Amino acid sequence: MVPKLWLFVFLGACASGIPHWDGAALQGQRNSSGRLQWESQCQYQLRHLQDGARITALLPPRLEGHWISTSCEVRPGPEFLTRSYMFYSNRLFKAYQFYYQDPSCREPLYSLLIKGKLRLRQASWITRGATEASYHLHKVGIVFHSQSAVVEIAERINRTGGRGCGKLLPPGRSWIPGTVYELLSAKAEIDCTGALGFAMHELSLIRVERHYKLQQMPGSRVVEELYLGDIHTEWSERLHYRPTGYQRPLQSAMHHSHPCPACGIIYRSDEHHPPILPHRATLPLRLGGKWVSLRCEVRPAVLFLTRLFTFHGGNRTWEGYYHHYSDPACRQPTFTVYASGHYNKGTLSTKVRGGTELTFRVTRARVTPMDQVTAAMLNASHPGSCGDAGSWALGVEQDVTPTNGCSPLGIKLPHVEFELFKIEQDLRGQSLLFIGERPTDGSNPDIPEKRPTSYQDPLVQCAGASGGFSRQLHHSHQPEKYSGRNRSSKVHSMGSLLLITALTFLRWDLN
Ligand SMILES: *[C@@H]1O[C@H](CO)[C@@H](O)[C@H](O)[C@H]1NC(C)=O
Ligand SMILES: *[C@@H]1O[C@H](CO)[C@@H](O)[C@H](O)[C@H]1NC(C)=O
Ligand SMILES: *[C@@H]1O[C@H](CO)[C@@H](O)[C@H](O)[C@H]1NC(C)=O
Ligand SMILES: *[C@@H]1O[C@H](CO)[C@@H](O)[C@H](O)[C@H]1NC(C)=O
Ligand SMILES: *[C@@H]1O[C@H](CO)[C@@H](O)[C@H](O)[C@H]1NC(C)=O
Repeated sequence: MVPKLWLFVFLGACASGIPHWDGAALQGQRNSSGRLQWESQCQYQLRHLQDGARITALLPPRLEGHWISTSCEVRPGPEFLTRSYMFYSNRLFKAYQFYYQDPSCREPLYSLLIKGKLRLRQASWITRGATEASYHLHKVGIVFHSQSAVVEIAERINRTGGRGCGKLLPPGRSWIPGTVYELLSAKAEIDCTGALGFAMHELSLIRVERHYKLQQMPGSRVVEELYLGDIHTEWSERLHYRPTGYQRPLQSAMHHSHPCPACGIIYRSDEHHPPILPHRATLPLRLGGKWVSLRCEVRPAVLFLTRLFTFHGGNRTWEGYYHHYSDPACRQPTFTVYASGHYNKGTLSTKVRGGTELTFRVTRARVTPMDQVTAAMLNASHPGSCGDAGSWALGVEQDVTPTNGCSPLGIKLPHVEFELFKIEQDLRGQSLLFIGERPTDGSNPDIPEKRPTSYQDPLVQCAGASGGFSRQLHHSHQPEKYSGRNRSSKVHSMGSLLLITALTFLRWDLN
């Protein structure tokens, strides 16, 4: 396919800054009066996920090499961590997980050193575009970087660890900095990692993408991303859960995006020298404006979607479009949900440092079936369960507010969700909005206890509160071309079956 030349547009009205050569891939559109329309910024970003050919999924994935986090990650709990994983050609791997006290990853608690062996299996039939793998752990060691971490971990192991685990760590205050304490050894048949909520099931679902960024300087145009399986949002499920979605990707240490001050720091770290990331200012939660997905997002159990939100700060109302797809490139639409409602004034989270807690109310919703299967399914729904049954047609939107939602799609109205938000600025000066991770079991966070403690893929601001364009969007995702084996025929015949299966247990998501 023909690479596009991106028209560079910089709008002075709201943005204050210098155009970035590498980042400003977003194409604005000027109408005859020469004004840039913000709508096109957001719509462009969405369309853009669907039309190009600059992302390639490597199938089977090529894992060999060194993969690193590009920023501080948040796992359910919350846990703040960075990762640095090395895969070797003999299928052995060595992985570092560095854990922190704080959401900026500047105060290390402890490091895990994980060694084992990985074997790629078959293409996943559940998560299209992913490869399944099995792994075996040889060793897991822990190195402490703070006294409080020793005390806490020792207590947890003492309380919940198996036989022999109580003696693993030195009692009281006699720990020795720099010592590697073995939490798991296949040879000695000990495993005390359960007490930490530690499992490496993320290695059982793998996807590698190669991105070509034409706007970047030569030499840094290729970015490789490694997607590993997601972590269950429920602590008690973590040890058993087999992932069907992904965490935020690691990037190849050789081919990562630029600039990335954290990358070099993480790359050079080891269990005795945990990375301490550069300080970053926390931003106030100014939601006003429009926010759009940066990539085709994957939800566990398994949906592909893009999101576009508008928040009106003045009267605290919001509206959102959720475009659902059946494929990992977000090219085959299945249905679109429009929802709107209002939200409260947020309060800083005491549980998840750096986050803000909000309550969202969904009061209206509209649904548009985008393929025949969904149209027929909605058309055949029980009268009164989803709009005007019998009058659904492909591409025609229906208001489902009068039927209190759409039960075949799991939409219930009115509806309340307890949320966690944060806003960060990326290194190009774009504002990123992180919305709380959905409960992995597919339920809604409709009680305060289910409020998320980690985040989904960020959205990028594509229009400011005034309706003007806020900053350049950088182009990040393009549909893939499968390389390697020709899977297309199998995938197509599976497509509708998967969709139907997905719809039967689909819970509709606010976010
Ligand atoms: C161009 O866009 C601006 C801003 O959206 C709008 O006010 C104006 O009417 C448009 N002009 C034409 C000719 O469409
Ligand atoms: C573990 O528990 C035992 C008994 O409750 C206690 O005597 C011991 O000091 C504890 N060890 C640690 C490291 O907390
Ligand atoms: C809230 O404010 C926005 C923009 O100011 C406006 O378009 C919208 O109609 C308002 N919503 C309500 C329910 O008042
Ligand atoms: C929906 O159902 C009506 C009535 O049963 C039927 O006439 C129509 O063809 C159906 N449309 C679709 C898209 O299945
Ligand atoms: C892949 O399979 C499809 C369907 O069987 C076929 O039409 C297509 O030509 C194949 N492509 C390649 C590259 O082999």
